[in-house]
Amino acid sequence: MFNVSLAPPGAEPPDAAQLRSHQLEAELRQDAGRFRVLTGDRPTGPLHVGHLFGTLANRVRLQDLGVDVLVLIADYQTITDRESPAGLPADVLGQVADYIAAGIDPERSTIFAHSQVEELNQLMMPFLSLVSVAEVARNPTVKDEFASVGGSAMSALMFTYPVHQAADILFCRANLVPVGSDQLPHIELTRTIARRFNGCYSPRRPYFPEPEGLLTQAPLILGVDGTKMSKSRANAIAMAASEDETARLIRRAKTDAEREITYEPERRPEVSNLVLLAALCLERPPEDVAAELGGAGAAGLKRLLTDALNERLRPLRHRRRELANDPAYLRSVLANGTNRAREIATVTLNDVRELMHNAY
Ligand code: TRP
Repeated sequence: MFNVSLAPPGAEPPDAAQLRSHQLEAELRQDAGRFRVLTGDRPTGPLHVGHLFGTLANRVRLQDLGVDVLVLIADYQTITDRESPAGLPADVLGQVADYIAAGIDPERSTIFAHSQVEELNQLMMPFLSLVSVAEVARNPTVKDEFASVGGSAMSALMFTYPVHQAADILFCRANLVPVGSDQLPHIELTRTIARRFNGCYSPRRPYFPEPEGLLTQAPLILGVDGTKMSKSRANAIAMAASEDETARLIRRAKTDAEREITYEPERRPEVSNLVLLAALCLERPPEDVAAELGGAGAAGLKRLLTDALNERLRPLRHRRRELANDPAYLRSVLANGTNRAREIATVTLNDVRELMHNAY
């Protein structure tokens, strides 16, 4: 059953998704209040500068446009892939600190962990009944995980993770989910579940909106070794890293033998990645930064990047340290977020019970 290699049902070709995202951006600028965004991360440790200039900057932008943004800390998801959850509380609080330091404002946006919202998790029951094993099995993330753990040793929770993700999105009836294009199959399955629920239980007035993916335009930042920036590969510059650690990581960064610095992401991915990161810090076009460096070589580029990044992150790191020293505040942010999420989830679950004829 895991060999199904069909494209996800109804998945749009990337061009159509791109086009739709452009339309959505225009709608966001016109009427941000119409949108509710659900997005989140697994609490697997400190967020890094790839997150900061990518997904976090995008969330802050949406928040500042006036979108109702809910940020989920996907803690149940980590129990499928870590040996001991003993470090989870520290990782979760650290993630809250990273969010706030990056500009997510807990007064306007809702930060919560999905293990704390039981009404959300209860939606798994009806949702699981609406999809087949084959449909879940052909989700690319599930397939990858299945392959990497060597088959049927994968936990059933990991297997049903796309359905859990659908519950994360639908519990608050979010209509927009910022994603990378690799995440579109998740959105598609979420839409299928919404559509089937509506068809089965609420045919006259569709209850769940079919959420849309908003493709992120944020640049992809690579790690200092030129591969995907990821904590597990020890190639990530954490937002919270010290200035010395930052300098050390950049000193180690992979470059190439050409002395002239240019911005050519296809031909020189490693050097271009460092140029891009510096450009993002300096808020200048990467081509200009490269031209200015000219013959300065890898050493000159690394010096510029180290200074630019440490400068850019200084206020954020200062705030991050203050927050880390105030765990009571971080807990109160989570508690408030949980309360709001639970209020929303309770209304949804009650409606769902009503529609499914489970209200006695
Ligand atoms: N899968 C996401 C990650 O690995 C986290 C996540 C869980 C999520 N549920 C979600 C993201 C719902 C967007 C929508 O980081």
